[in-house]
Amino acid sequence: MTVFDPEQPYNALPPLPPPHDIETKSVLKKCVTARAALAALQQATALIPNQDVLISSVPLLGLREAKDSSEIENIVTTNDRLFQYAHSDPDQADPATKETLRYRKALLKGFESLAERPLTTRTAVEVCRAIKDVDLDLRRTTGTHLRNHASGKVIYTPPEGEAVLRELMANWEAFLHDGSDMDPLVRMAIAHYQFEAIHPFPDGNGRTGRILNILVLVQEGLLDLPVLYLSRYINDRRNDYYRLLLGVTAEKAWEAWALFMLDAVETTAHWTRDKILAVRALMESTVSHVREAAPKTYRRELVETIFRKPYCRIGDLVEAGVGNRTTASKYLKDLVEAGVLQERKSGRDRIYLHVRFFDLLMNDSNEVAPFPPT
Ligand SMILES: Nc1ncnc2c1ncn2[C@@H]1O[C@H](COP(=O)(O)OP(=O)(O)O)[C@@H](O)[C@H]1O
Ligand SMILES: [Mg+2]
Repeated sequence: MTVFDPEQPYNALPPLPPPHDIETKSVLKKCVTARAALAALQQATALIPNQDVLISSVPLLGLREAKDSSEIENIVTTNDRLFQYAHSDPDQADPATKETLRYRKALLKGFESLAERPLTTRTAVEVCRAIKDVDLDLRRTTGTHLRNHASGKVIYTPPEGEAVLRELMANWEAFLHDGSDMDPLVRMAIAHYQFEAIHPFPDGNGRTGRILNILVLVQEGLLDLPVLYLSRYINDRRNDYYRLLLGVTAEKAWEAWALFMLDAVETTAHWTRDKILAVRALMESTVSHVREAAPKTYRRELVETIFRKPYCRIGDLVEAGVGNRTTASKYLKDLVEAGVLQERKSGRDRIYLHVRFFDLLMNDSNEVAPFPPT
């Protein structure tokens, strides 16, 4: 057996499935709790009626995922810029914000593609194109290396040669659909390692791979909506993530890798479910507060709009059919008065920030500031 050399293209990357049984006792045990957490999340989202605003509010968590996943790659934007440009003029945003917003678009695009056709290499190419906004394909050039962020030392060199990459990707694709009775979460973990080890694209492999994880779970029927955002977990443990990926390559340390990904699923599923319940609770309390503090202004569509657009503009209310510009502007001012929104200037535009909702989406804590007394 050849020893793994980080400086040499790893063309000896073994095809899937891994030769030995990864579903050890501890892995299977962890599968049970992770699957239970995922089922609870699935139940929380399945109960949301289609016309409910929660259905359009929850995907805003995708902005959070986009931010975390991009941060793993040192693409850093602010919550503020992200939300500000999410609903208007992304073209005017700075490059990091643009790239982060493209991640969310790529995720939605990948999710929609599953209704048309199964997850394949083509899905990966499309997702990566959407993230990078270039017409890329599998790597044809040599010289792609993964380096340690701090020291610049090469830690891994992916396989080279277009034919080699095509073959490895075909094997990855076949593995995703091989119909064996492997636990789908273990399948996701194995496929994610393999995808990153193949590193099929010149750039964007990390982010594409993390989107593919969500798509695998949707495809396996474990999620209806693409709402399991693992990047927060990974971002918090970026060093472990890198170390464990390398551990599979250098030492075949599959079990530790699988346990990491399973814990990511379990922790994130709990977190997301709690988040969704907190958003629902905030909706209810906001409705009662506005009814009491501004009874003449309260209407359902108004409250719904600020849960769809935490950075709301007058035009958003007009578009939602709440009223003309004058009425919409008055309503927003009333909501500022009632302590629900905060007014901000953005160029010539006025933005109304739905503070509690925004905090809930972007903070880990589910506590929100109390409403002012009426
Ligand atoms: N030792 C490793 N082997 C394979 N993949 C790795 C290893 N270490 C990190 N990675 C993956 O490579 C990604 C970075 O690759 P890159 O193409 O730059 O993605 P992006 O542009 O999304 O940053 C990391 O996010 C991680 O998923
Ligand atoms: Mg990169």
